[in-house]
Order: sequence, then structure tokens, then C-alpha cells
Amino acid sequence: MVADLSRFLSRRTEYTRVSIVREILKIAEGREIISLAGGLPDPASFPKKELGEIAKQVIEQHGDLALQYSPTRGIRPFREELSRFMERHGIPAKPEEILVTTGSQQAIDVVTKTLINPGDTIALGLPTYLAAINTFRVYEARFLGIPVDEEGMNTEVLEERLRECKSKGVHVKLVYTIPTAQNPSGVSMSMERRKHLLELAEEYDFLVVEDDPYSYFTFEPVEYKSLKAMDRGGRVIYMSTFSKILAPGLRIGWIAADKELTDYFELTKQHMDLHTPTLSQFIAMEALRRSVIERHLPRVVELYRRKRDAMLSAMEQHFPEGSRWAKPVGGLFIFAYLPEGIDTYKLLPKAVDRGVAYVPGNSFFVDGGGRNTLRLNFSNPPIEKIEKAISILGTLFKEALDR
Ligand SMILES: Cc1ncc(COP(=O)(O)O)c(C=O)c1O
Repeated sequence: MVADLSRFLSRRTEYTRVSIVREILKIAEGREIISLAGGLPDPASFPKKELGEIAKQVIEQHGDLALQYSPTRGIRPFREELSRFMERHGIPAKPEEILVTTGSQQAIDVVTKTLINPGDTIALGLPTYLAAINTFRVYEARFLGIPVDEEGMNTEVLEERLRECKSKGVHVKLVYTIPTAQNPSGVSMSMERRKHLLELAEEYDFLVVEDDPYSYFTFEPVEYKSLKAMDRGGRVIYMSTFSKILAPGLRIGWIAADKELTDYFELTKQHMDLHTPTLSQFIAMEALRRSVIERHLPRVVELYRRKRDAMLSAMEQHFPEGSRWAKPVGGLFIFAYLPEGIDTYKLLPKAVDRGVAYVPGNSFFVDGGGRNTLRLNFSNPPIEKIEKAISILGTLFKEALDR
């Protein structure tokens, strides 16, 4: 046995070894708990019958191609279908501007690996998506945290910070944002701020990463336009995924960006995994051709809207006075701000003892803030469990306030 194998590890694994979600799973192991911690879609939302038929036909009829290696960029007819799908949702992208990725998690990784040197600055929301933060950390980015309020990332504050950075000779290279139904806060960026962000991108010369898993299925009609659709300067790197609109197990995501940038992203991806699984691409392509996603989405919306509303009314009933949260128009989460003084990280083991898990919100803030916040998933648990879990959490938080 080699002694202390950890001495062989690279420095970047420091960032991959800490995971709040893994810690939660460890505490919860072997117990019967209601998990509001993950971000899993409801399996009832998977179109299993249609996908089963498609998978069988794809292998029987196109097996020679579908089971073979394929180009790093993604198979051409699939990129054409994706381009048409985006067009139908008002987001223009040519097939040659698209790179198919292994989930949008890989899209984040590919973009960061291609663009970010150690010490480069990325501006992002306070709070923002945890797995993106972790990826940026692995590439040793510096952060500029920008508050998120009920209209999304506050671009007035962003402008001030950009001005300060410029005066100190610091160039902000990327702004990472999830403009519609942000994970974790659930809020969407107003149209005014979207315009402002793109103006700032020109003025301060940065690129914008628009991470957009949720705009294809909102619970109420919205008027938001995607940043990609508004982009005149070719500065928006758009990414999305089939994880929430079809099935995460397929691991299909994509990037749509200026062709020159997409060419660089393709080179980066090539030595990561050669290409996204060909079989998954064939299945997703057929699902698009047969309108499975478009037929299926209204059911997903209905299912998640009911669950969101059940969670919101349980929170209204049980959470302590002085708590606040945004009503998300989409996505899978509600993000709550509890009265100051409640520390959701410290309270987590107690919550798990009582049978409920959540993600303490602190991990979504790169500035160490948000100790009184938490993220709650409504897509996965059944409604009765959502109601029970929220009542347990409400009691716990009220007790913590009384002490
Ligand atoms: C904002 C955001 N980006 C990216 C992802 C990653 O999704 P996937 O890798 O399954 O496409 C998620 C999943 O929850 C997400 O919420």
C-alpha cells in the first residue's frame, strides 16, 4: 500500500473535494428523509414511452451511425434540429454556431477552460449556481460578486464595480448569468437590465455567458427575450440543456456562440471526451423531429406549477415572519431569505434529524454571505412531502429565532 496517496493530488482537486451536497448526503445516509436539497426533475415528467420507441428505432434503423464515434462538434443533423428548436423559441443560432456538449455542466467547463487563466475575473450573481462557481474555482478565477434582487442581477451595481475595476487596471473578462428563473434565487432579469448588461459588455469589453436551462418552460407567460436574441455584438455565449425539458440521463447540452469562439470551444472539448454520446444525440434529435419535447412541455409546466404553488403556500403558512422569497416563473427551486440571525448551515444537521434536507444558501454566495438563506427544490418530492417538509422546517426556524 502506498502511504498517503493524497500527496499525489493536483492543487485543483482542493476545490473538487469540498461539496456541500456530498456532506448533506453523508449526514442523511441510511435515514428516511424528504430531500429538498437536490435538483432532480420529477421522473413522472420523463416521456418514457416515446423515448423507448425512439431508442429502439434509432438502434435498429440507424445503429451503424448511432453506436459509432461521431464529430466533436455534434452530429450535423442534430445541430440543424437544435437551430430550428431555438428559432422556434426566438433565439437565433446557425448550426455552425452550435457545439453539442455532455450536459450544460460540460458547457460551463469548456467555456471556462477555453477563456479563463488563473487570476482572471468573472462577475456573477450573489447568489448564483453552485456548480458553476465550483468550476470557475477549479480554473482559479477571481470573482466579482454582484447582488441579485427581484429584477435579477443588479446591473447598476455591476456598472459601478466595473468602473472601480477599470480604475485599478482589472479587466473583467466574463459575466456569468442565468437570466430566466435563476438557480438558485428563482428570479428573472428584467428587460431593462438585460439591455443594460449588453451595453456594459460593449463599454467594458467583456463576454456574457447566458446559462439558460429554464426559459423553455415557464409557469406563466413571460415577455423576456434571451440575451442571445438581443446580442448585436457577438458577445453572448449561450448554453442550454435537455436535462429539464426531456431527461438529464441523456446528458445533452449545447453551446451557441459566435462561430470563431465555437471553433475554440470545439478544440477544448475534443481532448475532454472526443464527443457527446452519439446515441443520446440521435435520441434527442428524433425527439425534436417528432415534437416530443413541445408536446411534453405543457405537462411538465402543469406538474411543476402545482408543486411550486404547494411549496409557496406551505412557506406562507409555516415560515417565520420576516422571511421572504421570490415567486419563480420557472426552474426547480425556491430560495428563501430568513430573518437575520438564523444560520441555515448550522441548522442543517437538526433539519436532517427531523427528516428534511435542504441546501444552505451560503454556498451560492462567493462573498461568504447568505447565511440566513436556503434553497428548496420543489420539482422532485410529491406534494404531500413538500407540505410536510416545509412545516417541519418552519417549526425548526421559529424555534431557532426564539432562542
Ligand atoms: C443553471 C444551471 N446550469 C447548468 C446546469 C447543469 O445541467 P446539465 O449538466 O444537466 O445540463 C443546471 C442544472 O441544474 C443549472 O441549474
